[in-house]
Amino acid sequence: MFLKTIIINLKKPPTILNQFLKETVNISSVYSEEVINERLSVLRVENGNGKNTFAEDVSLGLTSFPKGLHPKYFYDSPGSELFEQICKTPEYYVTRTEASILERYSEEIAQLNCDKKNIVELGSGSSIKTKYILGSFIRNSGSITYMPVDVSDIIVQSSKKLLDEFEGLSIKGIISEYEEGLEVINELIDSPKMILFLGSSIGNFTQYEASELLACISSIMNENDSFLIGFDLVKDIDVLNAAYDDSAGVTAKFNINILSRINKELGGNFDLSKFKHKAFFNTDFSRVEMHLESTKEQLVYMRDIDESIHFEEGETIHTENSYKFTDEMISELASFADLTVNKTWKDPENYFGLYLMKK
Ligand code: AVI
Repeated sequence: MFLKTIIINLKKPPTILNQFLKETVNISSVYSEEVINERLSVLRVENGNGKNTFAEDVSLGLTSFPKGLHPKYFYDSPGSELFEQICKTPEYYVTRTEASILERYSEEIAQLNCDKKNIVELGSGSSIKTKYILGSFIRNSGSITYMPVDVSDIIVQSSKKLLDEFEGLSIKGIISEYEEGLEVINELIDSPKMILFLGSSIGNFTQYEASELLACISSIMNENDSFLIGFDLVKDIDVLNAAYDDSAGVTAKFNINILSRINKELGGNFDLSKFKHKAFFNTDFSRVEMHLESTKEQLVYMRDIDESIHFEEGETIHTENSYKFTDEMISELASFADLTVNKTWKDPENYFGLYLMKK
Protein backbone atom coordinates (compact mmCIF):
# COMPACT_ATOMS: atom_id res chain seq x y z
CA MET A 1 0.00 0.00 0.00
CA PHE A 2 1.36 3.47 -0.75
CA LEU A 3 0.16 7.00 -0.49
CA LYS A 4 0.74 9.82 -2.89
CA THR A 5 -0.57 13.34 -2.86
CA ILE A 6 -1.71 14.97 -6.05
CA ILE A 7 -2.64 18.60 -6.34
CA ILE A 8 -4.70 19.64 -9.28
CA ASN A 9 -6.05 22.97 -10.24
CA LEU A 10 -9.13 21.85 -11.98
CA LYS A 11 -9.76 25.00 -13.93
CA LYS A 12 -6.21 25.03 -15.36
CA PRO A 13 -3.85 22.25 -16.41
CA PRO A 14 -1.97 20.76 -13.44
CA THR A 15 1.49 22.28 -13.03
CA ILE A 16 4.10 22.38 -10.29
CA LEU A 17 3.24 26.05 -9.85
CA ASN A 18 -0.14 25.10 -8.45
CA GLN A 19 1.56 23.92 -5.28
CA PHE A 20 2.68 27.46 -4.61
CA LEU A 21 -0.56 29.01 -5.78
CA LYS A 22 -2.43 26.85 -3.30
CA GLU A 23 -1.52 29.24 -0.52
CA THR A 24 -2.94 32.27 -2.26
CA VAL A 25 -5.74 31.25 -4.61
CA ASN A 26 -8.67 28.96 -4.12
CA ILE A 27 -7.62 25.78 -5.87
CA SER A 28 -10.74 23.71 -5.81
CA SER A 29 -9.48 20.17 -5.24
CA VAL A 30 -6.44 18.66 -3.64
CA TYR A 31 -6.44 14.92 -3.25
CA SER A 32 -4.29 12.13 -1.96
CA GLU A 33 -4.46 8.63 -3.40
CA GLU A 34 -4.07 5.50 -1.30
CA VAL A 35 -3.40 2.38 -3.36
CA ILE A 36 -4.73 -0.53 -1.31
CA ASN A 37 -4.07 -3.28 -3.86
CA GLU A 38 -3.95 -3.68 -7.62
CA ARG A 39 -7.76 -3.57 -7.87
CA LEU A 40 -8.55 -0.95 -5.24
CA SER A 41 -7.43 2.60 -4.61
CA VAL A 42 -9.03 5.42 -2.67
CA LEU A 43 -8.72 9.11 -3.42
CA ARG A 44 -9.40 11.59 -0.64
CA VAL A 45 -10.32 15.05 -1.85
CA GLU A 46 -9.82 17.90 0.58
CA ASN A 47 -12.69 20.29 0.93
CA GLY A 48 -10.90 23.26 -0.57
CA ASN A 49 -13.75 25.42 -1.74
CA GLY A 50 -14.59 27.27 1.45
CA LYS A 51 -17.80 25.36 2.28
CA ASN A 52 -19.29 26.12 5.71
CA THR A 53 -18.51 23.87 8.66
CA PHE A 54 -21.18 22.09 10.73
CA ALA A 55 -20.80 24.76 13.47
CA GLU A 56 -21.25 27.63 11.00
CA ASP A 57 -24.30 26.04 9.36
CA VAL A 58 -25.95 25.22 12.70
CA SER A 59 -25.37 28.75 13.94
CA LEU A 60 -26.78 30.26 10.74
CA GLY A 61 -29.70 27.84 10.54
CA LEU A 62 -30.89 28.23 14.12
CA THR A 63 -30.61 32.01 14.18
CA SER A 64 -32.64 32.35 10.95
CA PHE A 65 -36.37 32.67 10.75
CA PRO A 66 -37.89 30.17 10.16
CA LYS A 67 -35.25 27.93 11.74
CA GLY A 68 -33.70 25.21 9.59
CA LEU A 69 -30.85 22.72 9.37
CA HIS A 70 -29.32 21.18 6.26
CA PRO A 71 -30.35 17.50 5.80
CA LYS A 72 -26.78 16.48 4.97
CA TYR A 73 -26.10 16.73 8.73
CA PHE A 74 -28.36 13.74 9.43
CA TYR A 75 -25.63 11.38 8.35
CA ASP A 76 -23.23 11.03 11.25
CA SER A 77 -22.61 7.41 12.16
CA PRO A 78 -25.82 6.83 14.24
CA GLY A 79 -27.80 8.79 11.62
CA SER A 80 -26.48 6.63 8.77
CA GLU A 81 -27.35 3.51 10.76
CA LEU A 82 -30.89 4.86 11.37
CA PHE A 83 -31.26 5.61 7.66
CA GLU A 84 -30.39 1.97 6.87
CA GLN A 85 -33.16 0.98 9.30
CA ILE A 86 -35.65 3.37 7.65
CA CYS A 87 -34.99 1.62 4.34
CA LYS A 88 -36.21 -1.64 5.91
CA THR A 89 -39.46 -0.26 7.39
CA PRO A 90 -42.63 -1.46 5.63
CA GLU A 91 -43.79 2.13 5.02
CA TYR A 92 -40.62 3.40 3.32
CA TYR A 93 -41.19 2.00 -0.18
CA VAL A 94 -38.40 4.06 -1.82
CA THR A 95 -35.40 1.73 -1.44
CA ARG A 96 -37.10 -1.57 -2.16
CA THR A 97 -39.03 -0.17 -5.13
CA GLU A 98 -35.89 1.22 -6.75
CA ALA A 99 -34.06 -2.05 -6.01
CA SER A 100 -36.86 -4.00 -7.71
CA ILE A 101 -36.58 -1.82 -10.84
CA LEU A 102 -32.81 -2.29 -10.89
CA GLU A 103 -33.13 -6.03 -10.39
CA ARG A 104 -35.56 -6.26 -13.28
CA TYR A 105 -33.93 -3.90 -15.78
CA SER A 106 -30.20 -3.69 -15.06
CA GLU A 107 -29.48 -6.21 -17.84
CA GLU A 108 -31.26 -3.97 -20.35
CA ILE A 109 -29.51 -0.88 -18.94
CA ALA A 110 -26.12 -2.62 -19.32
CA GLN A 111 -26.88 -3.70 -22.89
CA LEU A 112 -27.86 -0.14 -23.82
CA ASN A 113 -24.56 1.06 -22.35
CA CYS A 114 -22.25 -1.77 -23.40
CA ASP A 115 -19.57 0.68 -24.62
CA LYS A 116 -18.96 1.95 -21.07
CA LYS A 117 -16.13 0.61 -18.95
CA ASN A 118 -16.44 3.22 -16.20
CA ILE A 119 -19.32 3.43 -13.74
CA VAL A 120 -19.32 6.51 -11.52
CA GLU A 121 -21.75 6.62 -8.60
CA LEU A 122 -22.61 9.68 -6.54
CA GLY A 123 -23.53 9.07 -2.91
CA SER A 124 -22.84 5.39 -3.16
CA GLY A 125 -23.20 4.70 0.60
CA SER A 126 -23.14 0.96 1.03
CA SER A 127 -23.49 0.30 -2.76
CA ILE A 128 -26.10 -2.44 -2.23
CA LYS A 129 -28.45 -1.49 -5.06
CA THR A 130 -25.52 -0.87 -7.37
CA LYS A 131 -24.71 -4.59 -7.27
CA TYR A 132 -27.41 -5.27 -9.83
CA ILE A 133 -25.87 -2.73 -12.21
CA LEU A 134 -22.28 -3.87 -11.63
CA GLY A 135 -23.20 -7.55 -12.10
CA SER A 136 -24.96 -6.83 -15.41
CA PHE A 137 -22.19 -4.60 -16.74
CA ILE A 138 -19.51 -7.17 -15.89
CA ARG A 139 -21.54 -9.94 -17.57
CA ASN A 140 -21.82 -7.74 -20.67
CA SER A 141 -18.33 -6.25 -20.89
CA GLY A 142 -16.06 -8.56 -18.87
CA SER A 143 -14.36 -5.92 -16.78
CA ILE A 144 -15.21 -2.46 -15.52
CA THR A 145 -13.94 0.27 -13.22
CA TYR A 146 -16.35 1.44 -10.54
CA MET A 147 -15.80 4.91 -9.09
CA PRO A 148 -18.03 5.54 -6.07
CA VAL A 149 -18.04 9.12 -4.77
CA ASP A 150 -19.12 9.63 -1.17
CA VAL A 151 -18.24 11.91 1.74
CA SER A 152 -17.99 8.91 4.02
CA ASP A 153 -15.21 6.34 4.57
CA ILE A 154 -17.86 3.64 4.13
CA ILE A 155 -16.49 3.42 0.57
CA VAL A 156 -13.45 1.45 1.75
CA GLN A 157 -15.39 -1.32 3.51
CA SER A 158 -18.11 -1.62 0.88
CA SER A 159 -15.50 -1.69 -1.92
CA LYS A 160 -13.66 -4.62 -0.36
CA LYS A 161 -16.92 -6.59 -0.25
CA LEU A 162 -17.70 -5.77 -3.87
CA LEU A 163 -14.26 -6.93 -5.01
CA ASP A 164 -14.79 -10.28 -3.27
CA GLU A 165 -18.07 -10.66 -5.07
CA PHE A 166 -17.13 -9.55 -8.59
CA GLU A 167 -14.10 -10.70 -10.54
CA GLY A 168 -13.41 -8.29 -13.36
CA LEU A 169 -14.12 -5.29 -11.15
CA SER A 170 -11.60 -2.62 -10.15
CA ILE A 171 -12.54 0.25 -7.87
CA LYS A 172 -11.28 3.79 -7.54
CA GLY A 173 -13.21 5.18 -4.58
CA ILE A 174 -13.39 8.94 -4.18
CA ILE A 175 -14.02 10.36 -0.71
CA SER A 176 -15.32 13.79 -1.51
CA GLU A 177 -18.26 16.16 -1.85
CA TYR A 178 -19.99 15.62 -5.22
CA GLU A 179 -18.78 18.62 -7.21
CA GLU A 180 -15.13 18.18 -6.29
CA GLY A 181 -15.38 14.43 -6.90
CA LEU A 182 -16.85 15.05 -10.37
CA GLU A 183 -14.05 17.45 -11.23
CA VAL A 184 -11.48 14.83 -10.23
CA ILE A 185 -13.27 12.23 -12.37
CA ASN A 186 -13.23 14.61 -15.30
CA GLU A 187 -9.45 14.84 -14.92
CA LEU A 188 -8.99 11.09 -14.58
CA ILE A 189 -11.13 9.48 -17.29
CA ASP A 190 -11.76 10.22 -20.90
CA SER A 191 -13.28 6.91 -22.04
CA PRO A 192 -17.10 6.50 -22.02
CA LYS A 193 -18.72 6.49 -18.58
CA MET A 194 -22.10 6.08 -17.00
CA ILE A 195 -22.86 8.24 -13.96
CA LEU A 196 -25.36 6.93 -11.38
CA PHE A 197 -27.29 8.98 -8.86
CA LEU A 198 -29.76 6.63 -7.19
CA GLY A 199 -32.20 6.63 -4.27
CA SER A 200 -33.91 9.92 -5.27
CA SER A 201 -31.22 11.69 -3.28
CA ILE A 202 -31.76 14.55 -5.71
CA GLY A 203 -35.07 15.07 -3.87
CA ASN A 204 -33.25 16.33 -0.78
CA PHE A 205 -31.70 19.21 -2.69
CA THR A 206 -33.33 22.61 -3.08
CA GLN A 207 -34.44 23.25 -6.66
CA TYR A 208 -31.47 25.57 -7.08
CA GLU A 209 -28.99 22.98 -5.71
CA ALA A 210 -30.54 20.25 -7.88
CA SER A 211 -30.14 22.26 -11.08
CA GLU A 212 -26.60 23.22 -10.12
CA LEU A 213 -25.65 19.59 -9.51
CA LEU A 214 -27.23 18.39 -12.77
CA ALA A 215 -25.44 21.18 -14.64
CA CYS A 216 -22.16 20.09 -13.04
CA ILE A 217 -22.80 16.45 -14.04
CA SER A 218 -23.70 17.52 -17.57
CA SER A 219 -20.54 19.66 -17.81
CA ILE A 220 -18.30 16.60 -17.36
CA MET A 221 -20.32 14.40 -19.76
CA ASN A 222 -19.26 13.70 -23.33
CA GLU A 223 -21.66 12.70 -26.06
CA ASN A 224 -21.14 8.99 -25.46
CA ASP A 225 -21.65 9.23 -21.71
CA SER A 226 -24.92 8.57 -19.95
CA PHE A 227 -26.48 9.48 -16.64
CA LEU A 228 -28.89 7.22 -14.76
CA ILE A 229 -30.84 8.95 -12.01
CA GLY A 230 -33.57 7.73 -9.65
CA PHE A 231 -36.61 9.92 -8.92
CA ASP A 232 -39.31 9.31 -6.35
CA LEU A 233 -42.61 10.14 -8.03
CA VAL A 234 -45.72 12.00 -6.84
CA LYS A 235 -48.25 9.55 -5.42
CA ASP A 236 -51.07 9.12 -2.91
CA ILE A 237 -50.60 11.51 0.06
CA ASP A 238 -51.25 8.82 2.68
CA VAL A 239 -48.50 6.62 1.24
CA LEU A 240 -46.09 9.57 1.32
CA ASN A 241 -46.99 10.67 4.85
CA ALA A 242 -46.63 7.14 6.22
CA ALA A 243 -43.24 6.67 4.52
CA TYR A 244 -41.84 9.62 6.47
CA ASP A 245 -43.58 8.86 9.76
CA ASP A 246 -43.31 5.08 10.12
CA SER A 247 -45.21 3.33 12.88
CA ALA A 248 -42.06 2.01 14.60
CA GLY A 249 -40.79 5.59 14.98
CA VAL A 250 -37.48 5.01 13.16
CA THR A 251 -37.81 8.16 11.02
CA ALA A 252 -38.65 10.15 14.16
CA LYS A 253 -35.39 8.91 15.77
CA PHE A 254 -33.47 9.75 12.59
CA ASN A 255 -34.86 13.30 12.64
CA ILE A 256 -34.22 13.86 16.36
CA ASN A 257 -30.69 12.44 16.06
CA ILE A 258 -29.60 15.72 14.44
CA LEU A 259 -30.13 17.38 17.85
CA SER A 260 -28.01 14.71 19.60
CA ARG A 261 -25.33 15.43 17.04
CA ILE A 262 -25.42 19.13 17.98
CA ASN A 263 -25.23 18.16 21.67
CA LYS A 264 -22.23 15.89 21.04
CA GLU A 265 -20.29 17.95 18.56
CA LEU A 266 -21.12 21.52 19.58
CA GLY A 267 -21.71 21.17 23.32
CA GLY A 268 -25.45 21.77 22.97
CA ASN A 269 -28.00 21.14 25.72
CA PHE A 270 -31.04 20.19 23.62
CA ASP A 271 -33.50 18.18 25.71
CA LEU A 272 -34.59 15.63 23.10
CA SER A 273 -37.82 14.89 24.94
CA LYS A 274 -38.97 18.47 24.29
CA PHE A 275 -38.97 18.12 20.50
CA LYS A 276 -41.24 16.02 18.34
CA HIS A 277 -40.99 14.70 14.81
CA LYS A 278 -43.40 16.10 12.22
CA ALA A 279 -43.60 15.00 8.58
CA PHE A 280 -46.19 15.84 5.94
CA PHE A 281 -46.59 16.18 2.20
CA ASN A 282 -46.76 19.82 1.14
CA THR A 283 -48.79 19.73 -2.08
CA ASP A 284 -47.94 23.31 -3.09
CA PHE A 285 -44.24 22.49 -3.24
CA SER A 286 -44.55 18.81 -4.18
CA ARG A 287 -42.37 17.75 -1.26
CA VAL A 288 -42.49 15.88 2.01
CA GLU A 289 -41.24 18.21 4.73
CA MET A 290 -39.68 17.06 7.98
CA HIS A 291 -39.60 19.34 11.01
CA LEU A 292 -38.71 19.14 14.69
CA GLU A 293 -41.35 20.86 16.76
CA SER A 294 -40.60 22.41 20.14
CA THR A 295 -43.27 21.15 22.54
CA LYS A 296 -42.58 24.01 25.00
CA GLU A 297 -41.22 27.51 25.09
CA GLN A 298 -37.52 26.94 25.84
CA LEU A 299 -33.97 28.23 25.60
CA VAL A 300 -31.17 26.01 24.26
CA TYR A 301 -27.48 26.80 24.60
CA MET A 302 -24.60 25.57 22.41
CA ARG A 303 -21.34 26.04 24.30
CA ASP A 304 -18.88 25.65 21.40
CA ILE A 305 -20.49 28.37 19.33
CA ASP A 306 -21.63 30.38 22.35
CA GLU A 307 -25.16 30.72 21.00
CA SER A 308 -28.47 30.72 22.91
CA ILE A 309 -31.54 29.91 20.87
CA HIS A 310 -35.08 30.72 21.96
CA PHE A 311 -37.97 28.46 20.86
CA GLU A 312 -41.65 29.34 21.10
CA GLU A 313 -43.99 26.47 21.93
CA GLY A 314 -44.93 24.90 18.57
CA GLU A 315 -42.05 26.53 16.69
CA THR A 316 -40.25 24.17 14.32
CA ILE A 317 -36.81 23.54 12.89
CA HIS A 318 -37.21 22.57 9.23
CA THR A 319 -34.80 19.67 8.78
CA GLU A 320 -35.54 18.15 5.37
CA ASN A 321 -37.40 18.45 2.11
CA SER A 322 -37.89 15.37 0.01
CA TYR A 323 -39.25 16.43 -3.37
CA LYS A 324 -41.57 14.13 -5.26
CA PHE A 325 -41.44 14.46 -9.04
CA THR A 326 -43.60 14.24 -12.13
CA ASP A 327 -42.24 13.44 -15.62
CA GLU A 328 -42.75 17.09 -16.49
CA MET A 329 -40.64 18.32 -13.54
CA ILE A 330 -37.92 15.84 -14.50
CA SER A 331 -37.77 16.92 -18.17
CA GLU A 332 -37.56 20.54 -17.07
CA LEU A 333 -34.71 19.81 -14.67
CA ALA A 334 -32.90 17.83 -17.38
CA SER A 335 -33.30 20.46 -20.07
CA PHE A 336 -32.00 23.18 -17.73
CA ALA A 337 -28.79 21.12 -17.51
CA ASP A 338 -28.67 20.52 -21.26
CA LEU A 339 -29.68 16.89 -20.87
CA THR A 340 -32.48 14.89 -22.45
CA VAL A 341 -34.33 11.89 -21.10
CA ASN A 342 -33.59 8.90 -23.33
CA LYS A 343 -35.39 6.10 -21.56
CA THR A 344 -37.37 5.51 -18.36
CA TRP A 345 -37.99 2.44 -16.22
CA LYS A 346 -40.71 2.39 -13.54
CA ASP A 347 -42.31 -0.10 -11.16
CA PRO A 348 -45.88 -1.30 -11.93
CA GLU A 349 -47.42 1.20 -9.45
CA ASN A 350 -45.42 4.16 -10.84
CA TYR A 351 -44.00 4.88 -7.40
CA PHE A 352 -40.44 5.36 -8.58
CA GLY A 353 -38.59 5.92 -11.85
CA LEU A 354 -35.11 5.45 -13.23
CA TYR A 355 -34.30 7.96 -15.96
CA LEU A 356 -31.48 7.51 -18.46
CA MET A 357 -30.23 10.89 -19.64
CA LYS A 358 -27.83 11.93 -22.38
CA LYS A 359 -26.22 15.16 -23.46
C1 AVI B 1 -31.77 9.96 1.37
N1 AVI B 1 -33.12 10.45 1.00
C2 AVI B 1 -33.39 10.19 -0.41
C3 AVI B 1 -34.18 10.05 1.91
C4 AVI B 1 -35.56 10.59 1.42
O1 AVI B 1 -36.45 9.79 1.23
O2 AVI B 1 -35.68 11.79 1.18
C5 AVI B 1 -33.93 10.56 3.31
C6 AVI B 1 -35.03 10.24 4.27
N2 AVI B 1 -35.58 11.07 5.11
C7 AVI B 1 -36.51 10.49 5.80
N3 AVI B 1 -36.62 9.25 5.39
C8 AVI B 1 -35.70 9.05 4.43
